[in-house]
Amino acid sequence: MRVFSLLATLAASATVVLAATVQYDFSVDWVQANPDGDYDRTFIGINGEWPPPPIKCNIHDRVIVNVTNNLGNEPTAIHFHGLFMNGTNAMDGPAFVTQCPVPAGNNIIYNFTVDQPGMYWYHSHYGGQYPDGLRAPFIVYDPDEPFAGQYDEDTYLSVSDYYHQSIPWLTANKFLTLTNPTGGEPIPDAALFNNSQNIKFKVEPNKTYKIRIVNMGALVSQYIWFEGHDFKIVEVDGIYVEPTDASMIYITVAQRYTILLTTKNSTDTNYPMIASFDTTMLDHVPNSLVWNVTGWLTYDENAAFPEPAMIDQYDFYDDFNLVPVEKEQPYEPDYQVSVSVKMNNLGDGVNYAFFNDISYVAPDVPALYTVMSSGNLSTDATVYGANTHTYVLGYQEVVEIVLNNLDKGTHPFHLHGHTFQVVERSPAAPDANTYLTYDSANPGTVNEYPMRRDTVYVRPNGYFVLRFKTDNPGVWFFHCHIEWHLEQGLALVLVEAPLEIQSRQVIPEDHYAACKAGGYAYEGNAAGNTVNLLDLSGEKLQPKPLPAGFTARGIVAMVFSCISAFAGMGFITWYGLSDLKSTELEVAEALGEPLDDSDESK
Ligand code: C2O
Repeated sequence: MRVFSLLATLAASATVVLAATVQYDFSVDWVQANPDGDYDRTFIGINGEWPPPPIKCNIHDRVIVNVTNNLGNEPTAIHFHGLFMNGTNAMDGPAFVTQCPVPAGNNIIYNFTVDQPGMYWYHSHYGGQYPDGLRAPFIVYDPDEPFAGQYDEDTYLSVSDYYHQSIPWLTANKFLTLTNPTGGEPIPDAALFNNSQNIKFKVEPNKTYKIRIVNMGALVSQYIWFEGHDFKIVEVDGIYVEPTDASMIYITVAQRYTILLTTKNSTDTNYPMIASFDTTMLDHVPNSLVWNVTGWLTYDENAAFPEPAMIDQYDFYDDFNLVPVEKEQPYEPDYQVSVSVKMNNLGDGVNYAFFNDISYVAPDVPALYTVMSSGNLSTDATVYGANTHTYVLGYQEVVEIVLNNLDKGTHPFHLHGHTFQVVERSPAAPDANTYLTYDSANPGTVNEYPMRRDTVYVRPNGYFVLRFKTDNPGVWFFHCHIEWHLEQGLALVLVEAPLEIQSRQVIPEDHYAACKAGGYAYEGNAAGNTVNLLDLSGEKLQPKPLPAGFTARGIVAMVFSCISAFAGMGFITWYGLSDLKSTELEVAEALGEPLDDSDESK
């Protein structure tokens, strides 16, 4: 016994002694690539390579990522998705939340320790930039993982959706435009496995593979299965879970699943592995879209590579029922944030996304920088600006987020800086005109030990209830991880324990330097007022609502009648657009003021 505990002590201290510093130097630049073999385009890569390299470290390591923006034409900012950044909020990465965008030609250092095990990823958190390629896995090895010794290989697999056109171009020309009043998201051109297609995932017989899976896409969730092979789910979003048998997972963008998959004892054939889009999340499904991507568990290069079999239904494991290894009963909430999700048009005719009628607009001053320069007023949500939709949270409380989805889409929501308990999640409403909203007097199913993760989906017209502890002072973004919806404003800000942030944290000089180089304000309230912090004049606001009687439906009807009336006349594009331009003027007249189309919130 004595020897054992001595060894345990040695092992524990060995971990501390061995904590290393892992350094990455990233030059972010444009790289040519053609992942689906169909279209050559420029991607945002790192050090001349696309896909960018994964970051790998051991638990408790210090990670230093020195990022130089060599894009020439776009700012950037990098977020380390799922890492708590406890004590280092400035390293979290979202532009205008915890830092300024890093202008082209400048650099920034992210320096933090990693005390969580498992699978994460890093991605650009500026504008709609990550689907243009700046995203990769972030793997944290843990010698003390509960399933240590139960596998032979530790590997990873990514899935993503993929667009041939660049995201800024799609956003400006196809998405946030008057010609897209219903807010239909651009349809991806292809699905990718490990940034490629038809991959041969090499395996040997009678072995167990730990496969860390991440969805790095912009929009669609994917179903993933391996023909002829069941597996065990052992970790989600960095939370170890009781090993759970499954034959298929459903993974939203930004989620991770780690599975243990044991191979067969023969090498006669290879087995298709399939990732398939949740096509219900697409505005429409073009005939040309191949929404599956196939690879093969490759036992023998010379054996057959069969085509995947058709399946009747997607029989995936419902993550709501996963049980964390570290068991905690539902926390008792002290404070509730209740939001409803809607999509609607504003007076500029563009379709936006809302939490309680507020469509997030980034402030002039990143919220963390406002915390650091507003003294005791940092506890007053006013200073962060009305359109950032900021809630100020106390320290060491339990916060409950109730989210009612009044939209017919599935949305994956992510909270920075935390994992949360998923206390309730309703089914989808039976039809598009019914809404299932949370009623605390009538709770749905609550598990004894709720699943925890950092990204969770809500079903169409349904709701979820999340709870987390405010044990991590910082400014944390909560948003839909569908990149298009973030661009539409589906986000809010939680300023957690601002006085503790002020007393314990610093923003390094090189982060301020990025602000200065880019001409961004870095102190004062959301509008950059450093004298009267409660005076928000000039703050960035969402466009005015549509004038009374001018409904979104009206815009849709007008746009479509205009398009069909002139279809086939050759000058449809020119005429259509000029007509819409005059509509925009009409709306502006009705509003009695020019529309603000200089809104460069992201
Ligand atoms: Cu993957 Cu705001 O994050």
